[in-house]
Parts: sequence; C-alpha cells; structure tokens
Amino acid sequence: MSQVFSPERALDAYHYSHLPKGELISHIERLRREKNAVILAHNYQVGEIQDLADFTGDSLGLSLEASRTDAEMIVFCGVNFMAESAKILNPEKRVLLPHIGAGCSLADSITPESLDDWKARYPGHKVVTYINSSAEVKAESYICCTSANAVSVVRSLRTDKILFTPDRNLGRWVAAQVPEKEIAIYDGVCPTHDVLRGASLERTRDAYPEAIVIAHPECRQDVVELAHEVCSTTGMIAAVAKYPRARTFIIATEHGMIHQLKLRYPDKEFVPADGCIGCRLHCPYMKVTGLQDVYLALEDERFEIELDEEVIARARLALERMMAVPRDH
Ligand code: 13P
Repeated sequence: MSQVFSPERALDAYHYSHLPKGELISHIERLRREKNAVILAHNYQVGEIQDLADFTGDSLGLSLEASRTDAEMIVFCGVNFMAESAKILNPEKRVLLPHIGAGCSLADSITPESLDDWKARYPGHKVVTYINSSAEVKAESYICCTSANAVSVVRSLRTDKILFTPDRNLGRWVAAQVPEKEIAIYDGVCPTHDVLRGASLERTRDAYPEAIVIAHPECRQDVVELAHEVCSTTGMIAAVAKYPRARTFIIATEHGMIHQLKLRYPDKEFVPADGCIGCRLHCPYMKVTGLQDVYLALEDERFEIELDEEVIARARLALERMMAVPRDH
C-alpha cells in the first residue's frame, strides 16, 4: 500500500473530524463526482459511512460490486483484505483504503508460510480460503469463499478432501452442512465473533423469549446451535423477511449490522446478542474509518492498495472460481 502518510496530514484528519458533518459530506460528494469514484461500505462500518456509500453489503456483494463498477476509483470503507479483493478484481483501477489501520485479526492469523505448513500436513487436499485473508494467501489457494457462499463453494468441488482456512468456526459450520466431505480446518478465528458464548446469548434470549436469533457463521458452535438462521451479514436482511410476524430479532454479529437492519426494518427491534451495543461484538478495525478519512482519501488519493502483479493474477483465479458459484442465501 502506498503510504502518503505524514504527521501534518494526521493533524488534518484530526482537524476535519471536528468539521460539521454536513460540510464534510458536501466535500466528499464534490470529490466523488470530480474523481468519478465509487464508495463501497461494509455492513459493519459506522452508520454515517454506510449512509454515504454508493453500495453497502457483505464481502461477496461488495466484491461483485467492485467487479462491475465503471468508476475510475474505488474508495473501500471496510478492512484491508476487502480493499485488496477489489484491487485483485480491478488491477487497472485505483483502490483506496481510507484508514491505514483498518486491518483484520482473522486475515492476519494465516500467512503464506503457515498455509504451506498446513498444506504439507494435508497432502491431496484442495484449499478453500475464506475471503478474510491476504492477497498472498489467496494466491496460494484453489478457491475463495465468503460466509454467503461457503457451503456451495465446498459442495461445488469435485474432490472430497478439503483444507478450509483460516476461520475454524466457519469451517466447522460448513463441515456440518457438508458431512459427505472430509474437511480439515485451520485454527484461526475472528475475535469479535469468537468472544460470544452460548451462555451469554441464552441470557439475552431469556430477556426476549419471543425473539428470532440470527447468527453469523463466524460465531462459535454453541452460538450457532441456538440460532434460527445462520447467514452472512447481507443474508441477515433476507432472513428477517422470513419472519413477518416477529417483532424482535437477536443479532449475533458485529453491531454495525444493526444500523443496516434498522434502516431496512424501522418497525422491528434488533438486539445485539451480548445484550449491549458496542460492548463485545465490536470490531475495532471496522470502526476506525470516519468521514474525515473518506474525505482525505479522496482529496489525497490515499491509501492506495498496491499488489504484486503475479500475486494478483493467482489470487484472481481463486476469487473468480468463487464468483462463478451461486450464493447460499
Ligand atoms: P460478511 O461477508 O458476512 O459480511 O462477513 C464479513 C466479515 O468480515 C465477518 O467478520
């Protein structure tokens, strides 16, 4: 990533964070038009960024959007691996990650070296890698998946021997849906999801006994076993529609999702699974990006994602194989 970072500009970020919100938004609108940029935002971003974005979605939806856009510049309000995926799918475009600190602990849990080590332990296994991984790890994988298509991706493979990386909770959930395949699972987790325990969810459920429980498959097994629906973040929007009579939904994923659900269903009540907005189901990386960062990203054209051409070519194969498989939900 090119680092157009300077102490002066860091102070600018501080300065702009104190500008009236309306003023910042009008600067962003002007620059977005002038530079023919598209703003993509993940469902976990802070509400004001979700509201400003051209598209909001899950990892799969945003990758598809990135692959279709005719904008010259993509401003990716999410985390690093998502912006990298957009770059892999659009090597000729400028892809900007507005905050340099927007990383992902799960993606960091696997490196090309640790993947090599696991491959050596499971010879003859096809590697399915969750999109929450670096471009270099994708390049070493046969196919990628997201939480929206992991089951279909695994089913689509001709082989019965699979090495699933890096999320062990998602891997376990997929293995339960596809018992006919032998699935070896890497041992990474998303700390934001893995911190939630079934006992905490049960306590929240006791407070809302009529509520429908919707969980992300990155949650632990004792959590997904209590859920009526297990799906990707965008899958959660469709899942709510399946229960027209229900008023309350308990949401077991990062709390930014509740903003998007409330926009879609203003008459329903959404309760975080740990019973407290922003307590534990909070991803610090997803929340670092503010409007001032989006403004400075557009103004300074920073922080641009730069990847090795050969890595792009190999990672792209894994992403394109994935995109040919339909969504699970
Ligand atoms: P989704 O693809 O379901 O939005 O999940 C992304 C993610 O990073 C979950 O932690």
